[in-house]
Amino acid sequence: MASQSIWRKKPISAYLADSKKSDLKRVLTRWGLTSLGIGAIIGGGIFTLTGIAAHDFAGPALAISFVIAGVGCLFASLCYAEFASVLPVEGSAYAYAYGTVGEFFAWFIGWNLILEYMMGATTVAVAWSGYFEKLLHLIGIDLPIWIMNDPITAAAKSEALNLPAPGFAFNLPAILITILVTSILIKGIKEAANTNNIIVILKVAVVLFVIIVGAFYVNVENWKPFIPEKIVLPDGTSSFGWDGVVTAATIVFFAYIGFDAVSTQAGEAINPKKDVPFAIIASLVICTILYILVSLVLTGMVPYQQLDLKAPVASAFEGVGVTWAVLLIVVAATAGLTSVMLVMMLGQTRIFLGMAKDGLIPKSLFGAIHPIYKTPYKSTVVVGIVVATVAAFTPINKVSEMCSMGTLLAFAMVCGAVWLLRVKEPNLERPYRTPMLPVVATLGMGFNIFLMSKVRHETWIAFLIWGTLGIIVYFVYSKNASNLNPDNQNSNGK
Ligand code: ALA
Repeated sequence: MASQSIWRKKPISAYLADSKKSDLKRVLTRWGLTSLGIGAIIGGGIFTLTGIAAHDFAGPALAISFVIAGVGCLFASLCYAEFASVLPVEGSAYAYAYGTVGEFFAWFIGWNLILEYMMGATTVAVAWSGYFEKLLHLIGIDLPIWIMNDPITAAAKSEALNLPAPGFAFNLPAILITILVTSILIKGIKEAANTNNIIVILKVAVVLFVIIVGAFYVNVENWKPFIPEKIVLPDGTSSFGWDGVVTAATIVFFAYIGFDAVSTQAGEAINPKKDVPFAIIASLVICTILYILVSLVLTGMVPYQQLDLKAPVASAFEGVGVTWAVLLIVVAATAGLTSVMLVMMLGQTRIFLGMAKDGLIPKSLFGAIHPIYKTPYKSTVVVGIVVATVAAFTPINKVSEMCSMGTLLAFAMVCGAVWLLRVKEPNLERPYRTPMLPVVATLGMGFNIFLMSKVRHETWIAFLIWGTLGIIVYFVYSKNASNLNPDNQNSNGK
């Protein structure tokens, strides 16, 4: 496969060799992997973004938005599952594209996965800070705006309170939580998985609590009309109606991101070929059901206009007078967001590890495994520094949209690539086969590209700049440094 072509492919045999000589510890079971998936999925999407999605766009039809986003993700998850069963390696969509479409495409996917994982973790760090602020407020502590927010948000908040804008502002809680998560990840996957399991239990318990206790307070009158009538705003944009339901689906799409993170853990799974596909699909299906029920309960408890934009779940309980539940929900959301960060940052370092092993990024930095902890410690520190810095100075909506763009492109690519591999290599062993692949892959690609088309213009510009930068890095560094470059074949990379 060694050639100078940008379409050169990594042979499937090389993946199998990589997975045999992996330095990572194989400790993750089927349900441990599913727990990691749930840990990555339930987070800012359900605890925070449901507010804006229901309040401004979908009303009680928020549940339909969750169904639309969930079905689209299901197509992608079925494709991820087949890939994970054929190539149980840590690089996720990047690795899959390298074996099928070719190196340049794989590089480009890896570059966009940085948006998904690193900007996903950054988004959640900022959301965490918001919940932490609310938690402090509940126990009577209010810290100055300038150490709790990025400069843009701090200026907006100060203006709303008729205060002068602070000369300098940064999001200290977002930095602190990132340092904590980075330290846990350096210490080891076993510790990370244990911490995650405890948080996942707490998080799922609170979501079930919301569904079960909340159900007693549902007033069906709040669901009427289920899809509020469309309103066209003076700036030409619209809210509610079916368009609003679709817009809300693009917002709550973020809530599903994370099921694919399971595929980045293949290197640490005891039985990756069977358990990774199981965990990808199981974690997504469990969360989809929970999300639909939470949406129905929240919009049934209070009129959707009363849902708070920052803490909608807590506000619904406040709205029906169950104030004692508010602290519980805020504590669980704070812990729950921590576990999302944990899996997102873990996933990022494993994707970097896959790319470093292939020579596309420096091995000495991204491929170095700690001799005792057996974790990619240098890479973890780099990821921690970037997440902390961006989270300290950037508003949440900017990072969350970049995260969604990178993810949507990766999902669309995986749907196409799994189909391509089926056609080109029909005889490969496939412990899991996606049912009705041509239909599933086509719908998966169509859905994800459709959602990309709905993202804001500014985000598209930032996305195009990021993509151009990635192409430059490939041609200046990665193409030459690749293990598949014939000049590097004898030296076995750097
Ligand atoms: N799905 C994750 C969340 O909602 C990214 O926070």
